[in-house]
Amino acid sequence: MRILVTGGAGFIGSNFVSYTLKKHPDDRIIVLDALTYAGNLENFDKEIWNNPNFQFFHGNITDEKLVKELMRNVDAVVHFAAETHVDRSIREAGTFLETDIWGTYILLDSARLAGIERFVHISTDEVYGEAEDHASVEGDDLKPKSPYAASKTGADRLAWSYWTTYELPVTISRCSNNYGPFQYPEKLIPLFVTNAMEDKPLPVYGHGKNTRDWIYVLDHCSAIDALMRSDGDKVNGEVFNVSSEHELSVLDITGIILKALGKPESLINHVEDRPGHVIRHAVDPSKINKVLGWKPEYGFVENIEKTIDWYRNNETWWRNLKEKQAEYKEWIKAQYGKG
Ligand code: NAD
Ligand code: TYD
Repeated sequence: MRILVTGGAGFIGSNFVSYTLKKHPDDRIIVLDALTYAGNLENFDKEIWNNPNFQFFHGNITDEKLVKELMRNVDAVVHFAAETHVDRSIREAGTFLETDIWGTYILLDSARLAGIERFVHISTDEVYGEAEDHASVEGDDLKPKSPYAASKTGADRLAWSYWTTYELPVTISRCSNNYGPFQYPEKLIPLFVTNAMEDKPLPVYGHGKNTRDWIYVLDHCSAIDALMRSDGDKVNGEVFNVSSEHELSVLDITGIILKALGKPESLINHVEDRPGHVIRHAVDPSKINKVLGWKPEYGFVENIEKTIDWYRNNETWWRNLKEKQAEYKEWIKAQYGKG
C-alpha cells in the first residue's frame, strides 16, 4: 500500500509512521507536513530516514497543486495534519479554520479526483463537547466547545459528506486524549512532566477536576491501522470512537507525574481556568470493538510510567523545543505569563 500521511511530523503522525513501517515493511509512506511549531523532523529516527519506503515532503495541505501531485502516487490517505491545541485556538482561531477545515477540503477534493481507495480522517472526541451522563457514542449530538473542536467538527462532517455525495471511501476516527513519546510540550502530560523535571510550577486550570479519557498513542495507531485495512463495507462512511476507557482528572494525572518523578505537591499551581473548559471527555469504543474486533493493547499504569521515562531519557528532544524554539517561549509567555 502507498500511503499519504498528512501531519506525519507531529506527535501521533510520527508514531503512526514508525508503527506502520515496522508492521508493514512493504508499504510506502509519503509524509506531507508544513512543519509548523508542532512539526519536528527529530520525531523520525535514523532508521526511518534511511528507509527507502519513507519520503518526506515539506508543504502545506492547503497547497492544492502539491496535494494533487502527491495524490497521484498513493492508494490511501491518513489525514492527521491540523492545528491541535485548544488554548491556542482560544487566542487565535483563524489558522484552525484554515488548516483544519480548508486544508481538509483540499485533501478530500484531491482524493476524490485521484480515485483514492481509503481516506482515514483523524477526527477527535472533542467534537462531542461534554460527555455528560454517559461516554459519548457515535450517534450523539456534536456540540464542540472550543474553536479547535468546532474546526475539527467542520472537517469531520465535511469528510463524511464526501462519502455521502461522491462515495469517496472515507472512514473517520474519533479518538480520546493520546499520550506517549514525541508529544509537543504544550499539552498537559509533556508540559507537566518536563516542568516537574525542571522544578517549575505545574499550571492546573481551575480546580483540576476536569477529566479526560487517556489512551496510549500506539493503541490509537493500531486502531487507525485497522481502519485502513478493513473491508470497505465495514468502514466506508462510518465513524468509529477510539478509547481505552481510562478516565482520569487533571489532578490525578498531576499526582501520578509528581510521584513518578519524586517531586513535591508544592509544584502544583492552580491558575485561571480555560474559557469553555470541557468538564468531561469520554468515549465509548464498543462499535470499533464489535465491527472490527479492535481492542487496546496497552494498560494505563505501565504506559504512563513508560512515557514519563521516555521524557526523562530524551531530554535533548524536549529541551531543543523548550529552550531553543522561539514559538515555544512566546507561547509560554503569552499563556502563562512567564518567559
Ligand atoms: P500535533 O500538533 O502534534 O501535530 C500536527 C502536525 O500537523 C504537525 O506536524 C504540523 O506541522 C502539521 N501541520 C499543521 N498544519 C499543517 C498544514 N497546514 N499543512 C501540513 N501540515 C500541517 O498533533 P497531534 O496531537 O499529533 O494530532 C494529530 C491529529 O490527531 C489531529 O488531527 C488531531 O486533531 C487528532 N487528535 C489528536 C488527539 C491528541 O490527543 N493529541 C486526540 C484525538 C485526535
Ligand atoms: P490538553 O492537553 O490541552 O488537551 P485537551 O484540552 O484537548 O483535552 O488538556 C488536557 C487537560 O489538562 C484539560 O482539562 C486542560 C488541562 N490543562 C491544565 O490544567 N493546564 C495546562 O497547562 C494544560 C495545557 C492543560
